[in-house]
Amino acid sequence: MALKDSIQSLMTQVADMQAANAEELEALRIKYLSKKGEITALFNEFRNVPNEQKREIGQLLNQLRQETEGRINELREQFETKAAEMDKLDLTRTPDPIELGTRHPLSLVREEIEDIFSRIGFTIAQGPEVEDDKHVYGMLNFAPEHPARDMQDTFFIEKEIGVQKPTDVLLRSHTSSVQTRVMTSQKPPIRVLCPGRVYRNEAISARAHCFFHQVEGLYVDKNVSYADLREALLYFSKEMFGPETKIRLRPSYFPFTEPSAEMDISCNICGGKGCSFCKGTGWVEILGCGMVDPNVLESCGIDSKIYSGYAFGMGVERITNLKYRVKDLRLFSENDVRFLRQFESC
Ligand code: PHE
Repeated sequence: MALKDSIQSLMTQVADMQAANAEELEALRIKYLSKKGEITALFNEFRNVPNEQKREIGQLLNQLRQETEGRINELREQFETKAAEMDKLDLTRTPDPIELGTRHPLSLVREEIEDIFSRIGFTIAQGPEVEDDKHVYGMLNFAPEHPARDMQDTFFIEKEIGVQKPTDVLLRSHTSSVQTRVMTSQKPPIRVLCPGRVYRNEAISARAHCFFHQVEGLYVDKNVSYADLREALLYFSKEMFGPETKIRLRPSYFPFTEPSAEMDISCNICGGKGCSFCKGTGWVEILGCGMVDPNVLESCGIDSKIYSGYAFGMGVERITNLKYRVKDLRLFSENDVRFLRQFESC
Protein backbone atom coordinates (compact mmCIF):
# COMPACT_ATOMS: atom_id res chain seq x y z
CA MET A 1 0.00 0.00 0.00
CA ALA A 2 1.35 3.35 -1.16
CA LEU A 3 0.91 5.33 2.07
CA LYS A 4 2.51 2.63 4.19
CA ASP A 5 5.52 2.53 1.82
CA SER A 6 5.92 6.31 1.97
CA ILE A 7 5.87 6.16 5.79
CA GLN A 8 8.51 3.41 5.79
CA SER A 9 10.83 5.24 3.40
CA LEU A 10 10.55 8.47 5.44
CA MET A 11 11.35 6.46 8.59
CA THR A 12 14.71 5.38 7.15
CA GLN A 13 15.47 8.89 5.86
CA VAL A 14 14.75 10.40 9.25
CA ALA A 15 16.92 7.86 11.10
CA ASP A 16 20.01 8.93 9.04
CA MET A 17 19.27 12.64 9.18
CA GLN A 18 22.41 14.80 9.61
CA ALA A 19 22.88 18.54 9.89
CA ALA A 20 26.12 20.50 9.98
CA ASN A 21 24.65 23.61 11.60
CA ALA A 22 21.48 25.15 13.02
CA GLU A 23 20.34 26.45 9.60
CA GLU A 24 20.51 23.02 8.05
CA LEU A 25 18.59 21.62 11.00
CA GLU A 26 15.82 24.20 10.59
CA ALA A 27 15.62 23.33 6.88
CA LEU A 28 15.07 19.68 7.85
CA ARG A 29 12.34 20.60 10.28
CA ILE A 30 10.58 22.58 7.56
CA LYS A 31 11.04 19.77 5.03
CA TYR A 32 9.32 17.20 7.24
CA LEU A 33 7.22 18.84 9.93
CA SER A 34 6.05 22.26 8.74
CA LYS A 35 2.52 22.82 7.42
CA LYS A 36 3.71 21.98 3.94
CA GLY A 37 6.16 19.33 5.14
CA GLU A 38 6.30 15.76 3.88
CA ILE A 39 5.02 14.21 7.08
CA THR A 40 2.16 16.69 7.36
CA ALA A 41 1.23 15.75 3.80
CA LEU A 42 1.00 12.10 4.84
CA PHE A 43 -1.29 13.04 7.72
CA ASN A 44 -3.54 14.78 5.20
CA GLU A 45 -3.74 11.61 3.15
CA PHE A 46 -4.82 9.70 6.28
CA ARG A 47 -8.41 10.78 5.58
CA ASN A 48 -8.55 8.48 2.58
CA VAL A 49 -7.34 5.39 4.41
CA PRO A 50 -10.07 2.68 4.63
CA ASN A 51 -11.47 2.33 8.14
CA GLU A 52 -10.12 -1.14 8.81
CA GLN A 53 -6.53 0.14 8.25
CA LYS A 54 -6.83 3.42 10.13
CA ARG A 55 -5.55 1.94 13.39
CA GLU A 56 -2.34 0.47 11.91
CA ILE A 57 -1.51 3.44 9.65
CA GLY A 58 -2.38 5.93 12.37
CA GLN A 59 0.09 4.29 14.73
CA LEU A 60 2.80 4.30 12.07
CA LEU A 61 2.23 7.96 11.27
CA ASN A 62 2.45 8.93 14.92
CA GLN A 63 5.60 6.92 15.32
CA LEU A 64 7.13 8.67 12.28
CA ARG A 65 6.31 12.09 13.65
CA GLN A 66 7.72 11.27 17.09
CA GLU A 67 10.92 9.85 15.67
CA THR A 68 11.42 12.86 13.43
CA GLU A 69 10.93 15.26 16.32
CA GLY A 70 13.20 13.14 18.53
CA ARG A 71 15.99 13.09 15.93
CA ILE A 72 15.72 16.85 15.36
CA ASN A 73 15.94 17.50 19.11
CA GLU A 74 18.94 15.18 19.38
CA LEU A 75 20.78 17.10 16.64
CA ARG A 76 19.84 20.44 18.23
CA GLU A 77 21.31 19.34 21.56
CA GLN A 78 24.57 18.45 19.86
CA PHE A 79 24.93 21.99 18.48
CA GLU A 80 24.00 23.58 21.74
CA THR A 81 26.54 21.61 23.83
CA LYS A 82 29.25 22.28 21.22
CA ALA A 83 28.51 26.01 21.37
CA ALA A 84 28.53 25.94 25.19
CA GLU A 85 31.94 24.21 25.20
CA MET A 86 33.32 26.77 22.78
CA ASP A 87 32.15 29.53 25.14
CA LYS A 88 34.20 27.96 27.94
CA LEU A 89 37.44 28.05 25.91
CA ASP A 90 39.80 30.88 26.76
CA LEU A 91 41.20 31.80 23.41
CA THR A 92 43.49 34.43 24.92
CA ARG A 93 45.39 31.91 27.06
CA THR A 94 49.13 31.55 26.28
CA PRO A 95 49.78 28.12 24.76
CA ASP A 96 51.86 25.47 26.57
CA PRO A 97 55.50 25.84 25.54
CA ILE A 98 56.63 23.45 22.80
CA GLU A 99 59.44 21.24 24.10
CA LEU A 100 62.56 21.70 22.03
CA GLY A 101 64.84 18.78 21.22
CA THR A 102 68.59 19.02 21.71
CA ARG A 103 71.46 18.54 19.30
CA HIS A 104 73.42 15.34 19.86
CA PRO A 105 76.87 16.14 21.27
CA LEU A 106 78.56 14.22 18.45
CA SER A 107 76.70 16.32 15.87
CA LEU A 108 77.66 19.50 17.71
CA VAL A 109 81.33 18.57 17.69
CA ARG A 110 81.33 17.25 14.12
CA GLU A 111 79.77 20.50 12.94
CA GLU A 112 82.33 22.52 14.86
CA ILE A 113 85.18 20.56 13.21
CA GLU A 114 83.58 21.04 9.79
CA ASP A 115 83.17 24.73 10.49
CA ILE A 116 86.81 25.22 11.49
CA PHE A 117 88.16 23.46 8.39
CA SER A 118 85.66 25.12 6.06
CA ARG A 119 87.26 28.44 7.02
CA ILE A 120 90.50 27.28 5.37
CA GLY A 121 88.88 26.01 2.21
CA PHE A 122 87.83 22.42 2.97
CA THR A 123 84.55 21.14 1.54
CA ILE A 124 82.60 18.09 2.69
CA ALA A 125 82.78 14.76 0.86
CA GLN A 126 80.71 11.71 1.66
CA GLY A 127 80.76 8.08 0.67
CA PRO A 128 79.05 4.76 1.41
CA GLU A 129 79.28 2.97 4.76
CA VAL A 130 79.03 -0.42 3.05
CA GLU A 131 82.22 -0.46 1.02
CA ASP A 132 84.49 -2.75 -0.93
CA ASP A 133 87.98 -3.90 -0.01
CA LYS A 134 89.54 -1.86 -2.81
CA HIS A 135 88.43 1.55 -1.48
CA VAL A 136 88.96 0.80 2.22
CA TYR A 137 92.28 -1.06 2.00
CA GLY A 138 93.55 -1.98 -1.48
CA MET A 139 94.02 1.49 -2.95
CA LEU A 140 95.31 2.77 0.39
CA ASN A 141 98.46 0.67 0.18
CA PHE A 142 97.44 -2.00 2.69
CA ALA A 143 99.37 -5.22 1.95
CA PRO A 144 97.12 -8.18 1.06
CA GLU A 145 97.73 -9.82 4.44
CA HIS A 146 97.47 -6.67 6.51
CA PRO A 147 95.95 -7.48 9.93
CA ALA A 148 93.36 -4.66 9.67
CA ARG A 149 91.51 -6.87 7.18
CA ASP A 150 91.28 -9.52 9.87
CA MET A 151 87.76 -10.58 10.84
CA GLN A 152 88.51 -9.37 14.36
CA ASP A 153 88.88 -5.80 13.12
CA THR A 154 86.59 -5.54 10.13
CA PHE A 155 82.96 -6.50 9.68
CA PHE A 156 82.60 -8.37 6.42
CA ILE A 157 79.19 -8.67 4.80
CA GLU A 158 78.26 -12.29 4.21
CA LYS A 159 76.92 -12.81 0.72
CA GLU A 160 74.92 -15.80 1.84
CA ILE A 161 73.41 -15.57 5.30
CA GLY A 162 75.22 -17.81 7.75
CA VAL A 163 78.02 -18.68 5.32
CA GLN A 164 81.25 -17.03 6.38
CA LYS A 165 83.19 -16.97 3.14
CA PRO A 166 85.83 -14.32 2.62
CA THR A 167 84.05 -11.53 0.78
CA ASP A 168 84.91 -8.25 -0.77
CA VAL A 169 82.06 -6.31 0.79
CA LEU A 170 82.55 -4.80 4.24
CA LEU A 171 81.57 -2.00 6.59
CA ARG A 172 84.17 0.75 6.25
CA SER A 173 86.57 0.84 9.18
CA HIS A 174 87.71 4.39 8.42
CA THR A 175 86.51 7.24 6.23
CA SER A 176 89.79 7.18 4.28
CA SER A 177 87.66 5.20 1.81
CA VAL A 178 85.93 8.47 0.91
CA GLN A 179 89.36 9.94 0.13
CA THR A 180 90.10 7.19 -2.41
CA ARG A 181 86.70 7.81 -3.99
CA VAL A 182 87.35 11.56 -4.22
CA MET A 183 90.88 11.11 -5.60
CA THR A 184 89.65 8.77 -8.35
CA SER A 185 86.80 11.05 -9.36
CA GLN A 186 88.33 14.53 -9.03
CA LYS A 187 91.48 16.23 -10.21
CA PRO A 188 93.77 18.17 -7.84
CA PRO A 189 93.63 20.61 -6.19
CA ILE A 190 91.55 18.54 -3.76
CA ARG A 191 90.71 19.80 -0.29
CA VAL A 192 88.03 17.69 1.37
CA LEU A 193 86.78 16.76 4.79
CA CYS A 194 85.21 13.31 5.15
CA PRO A 195 82.94 12.98 8.18
CA GLY A 196 81.06 9.78 8.82
CA ARG A 197 80.34 6.65 10.80
CA VAL A 198 82.84 3.80 10.80
CA TYR A 199 82.68 0.24 12.10
CA ARG A 200 85.20 -1.97 13.86
CA ASN A 201 84.67 -5.41 15.28
CA GLU A 202 85.34 -4.55 18.93
CA ALA A 203 83.62 -5.65 22.12
CA ILE A 204 81.47 -2.81 23.46
CA SER A 205 82.76 -1.23 26.67
CA ALA A 206 83.16 2.23 28.22
CA ARG A 207 86.26 2.77 26.06
CA ALA A 208 85.45 0.97 22.80
CA HIS A 209 82.43 0.53 20.56
CA CYS A 210 81.68 -1.39 17.39
CA PHE A 211 80.90 1.86 15.61
CA PHE A 212 82.12 5.39 16.06
CA HIS A 213 82.54 8.59 14.04
CA GLN A 214 85.47 10.08 12.25
CA VAL A 215 86.38 13.22 10.43
CA GLU A 216 89.25 12.73 8.01
CA GLY A 217 90.83 15.41 5.86
CA LEU A 218 92.74 15.33 2.58
CA TYR A 219 94.62 18.01 0.72
CA VAL A 220 96.30 17.25 -2.61
CA ASP A 221 97.96 19.90 -4.78
CA LYS A 222 101.34 20.90 -6.15
CA ASN A 223 103.94 21.50 -3.43
CA VAL A 224 101.88 20.47 -0.41
CA SER A 225 104.37 20.02 2.42
CA TYR A 226 104.59 18.59 5.91
CA ALA A 227 104.80 22.19 7.19
CA ASP A 228 101.40 22.86 5.60
CA LEU A 229 99.99 19.86 7.47
CA ARG A 230 101.44 21.04 10.75
CA GLU A 231 100.10 24.57 10.29
CA ALA A 232 96.58 23.34 9.43
CA LEU A 233 96.53 21.08 12.50
CA LEU A 234 97.86 23.80 14.80
CA TYR A 235 95.17 26.17 13.53
CA PHE A 236 92.51 23.51 14.10
CA SER A 237 93.69 22.70 17.63
CA LYS A 238 93.73 26.34 18.72
CA GLU A 239 90.27 26.96 17.26
CA MET A 240 88.86 23.84 18.87
CA PHE A 241 90.53 23.86 22.26
CA GLY A 242 91.60 27.46 22.83
CA PRO A 243 94.43 29.77 21.68
CA GLU A 244 96.94 28.53 24.27
CA THR A 245 96.79 24.94 22.97
CA LYS A 246 100.11 23.42 21.87
CA ILE A 247 100.58 20.45 19.56
CA ARG A 248 103.27 17.83 19.11
CA LEU A 249 103.70 15.31 16.31
CA ARG A 250 105.14 11.88 17.13
CA PRO A 251 106.40 9.56 14.38
CA SER A 252 103.99 6.73 13.66
CA TYR A 253 102.97 4.37 10.89
CA PHE A 254 99.97 4.16 8.57
CA PRO A 255 100.10 2.21 5.28
CA PHE A 256 98.69 5.19 3.35
CA THR A 257 100.93 8.00 4.60
CA GLU A 258 104.68 8.47 4.58
CA PRO A 259 105.94 9.95 6.82
CA SER A 260 103.15 9.32 9.32
CA ALA A 261 102.55 10.87 12.71
CA GLU A 262 100.25 10.90 15.67
CA MET A 263 99.32 14.27 17.05
CA ASP A 264 98.96 15.18 20.72
CA ILE A 265 97.56 18.40 22.08
CA SER A 266 98.57 19.89 25.41
CA CYS A 267 96.03 18.51 27.89
CA ASN A 268 93.13 20.97 27.89
CA ILE A 269 92.05 19.80 31.32
CA CYS A 270 95.22 20.55 33.32
CA GLY A 271 96.73 22.93 30.78
CA GLY A 272 99.75 20.64 30.34
CA LYS A 273 100.76 20.33 34.00
CA GLY A 274 99.76 16.68 34.21
CA CYS A 275 96.52 15.19 35.57
CA SER A 276 94.72 11.87 35.70
CA PHE A 277 93.13 12.49 32.29
CA CYS A 278 96.50 12.82 30.54
CA LYS A 279 98.05 10.25 32.89
CA GLY A 280 100.43 12.87 34.21
CA THR A 281 102.06 13.49 30.81
CA GLY A 282 100.45 16.84 30.01
CA TRP A 283 99.60 15.59 26.48
CA VAL A 284 96.63 13.78 24.93
CA GLU A 285 96.57 12.08 21.56
CA ILE A 286 93.82 13.26 19.23
CA LEU A 287 94.57 12.24 15.66
CA GLY A 288 96.65 10.41 13.08
CA CYS A 289 98.14 12.15 10.04
CA GLY A 290 100.86 12.17 7.43
CA MET A 291 101.88 12.89 3.86
CA VAL A 292 99.83 10.83 1.38
CA ASP A 293 102.00 7.91 0.25
CA PRO A 294 102.92 8.29 -3.47
CA ASN A 295 101.62 4.73 -4.02
CA VAL A 296 98.17 5.88 -2.91
CA LEU A 297 98.21 8.88 -5.27
CA GLU A 298 99.28 6.63 -8.16
CA SER A 299 96.65 3.97 -7.41
CA CYS A 300 94.05 6.74 -7.64
CA GLY A 301 95.42 8.01 -10.95
CA ILE A 302 97.20 11.11 -9.60
CA ASP A 303 100.76 11.75 -10.81
CA SER A 304 102.91 11.65 -7.66
CA LYS A 305 105.77 13.43 -9.44
CA ILE A 306 103.61 16.52 -9.87
CA TYR A 307 101.35 16.34 -6.84
CA SER A 308 101.75 15.73 -3.15
CA GLY A 309 99.24 15.77 -0.32
CA TYR A 310 98.55 15.46 3.36
CA ALA A 311 95.84 13.56 5.21
CA PHE A 312 94.63 13.38 8.77
CA GLY A 313 91.91 11.55 10.65
CA MET A 314 90.32 11.97 14.06
CA GLY A 315 87.61 10.31 16.12
CA VAL A 316 84.66 12.59 16.88
CA GLU A 317 83.95 10.71 20.15
CA ARG A 318 87.50 11.39 21.31
CA ILE A 319 87.26 15.12 20.62
CA THR A 320 83.84 15.22 22.31
CA ASN A 321 85.32 13.49 25.37
CA LEU A 322 87.95 16.18 25.61
CA LYS A 323 85.46 19.00 25.18
CA TYR A 324 82.65 17.69 27.35
CA ARG A 325 84.36 15.03 29.56
CA VAL A 326 82.03 12.18 28.61
CA LYS A 327 83.66 9.21 30.30
CA ASP A 328 81.63 6.33 28.88
CA LEU A 329 81.43 5.92 25.09
CA ARG A 330 78.18 3.98 25.37
CA LEU A 331 76.34 7.15 26.43
CA PHE A 332 76.67 8.44 22.87
CA SER A 333 74.48 5.73 21.38
CA GLU A 334 72.01 5.03 24.18
CA ASN A 335 70.06 8.23 23.54
CA ASP A 336 69.13 8.66 27.19
CA VAL A 337 67.38 12.03 27.29
CA ARG A 338 68.88 12.80 30.71
CA PHE A 339 72.30 12.73 29.05
CA LEU A 340 71.24 14.55 25.88
CA ARG A 341 69.45 17.34 27.82
CA GLN A 342 72.78 18.37 29.28
CA PHE A 343 73.69 19.74 25.84
CA GLU A 344 70.59 21.92 25.60
CA SER A 345 72.44 25.19 25.75
CA CYS A 346 75.36 24.17 23.51
N1 PHE B 1 92.50 6.35 8.80
C1 PHE B 1 93.22 6.45 10.04
C2 PHE B 1 92.44 5.74 11.15
O1 PHE B 1 91.32 5.38 10.93
C3 PHE B 1 93.46 7.88 10.43
C4 PHE B 1 94.36 8.60 9.49
C5 PHE B 1 93.84 9.31 8.43
C6 PHE B 1 95.72 8.56 9.66
C7 PHE B 1 94.69 9.96 7.56
C8 PHE B 1 96.58 9.23 8.82
C9 PHE B 1 96.03 9.93 7.77
O2 PHE B 1 92.93 5.55 12.21
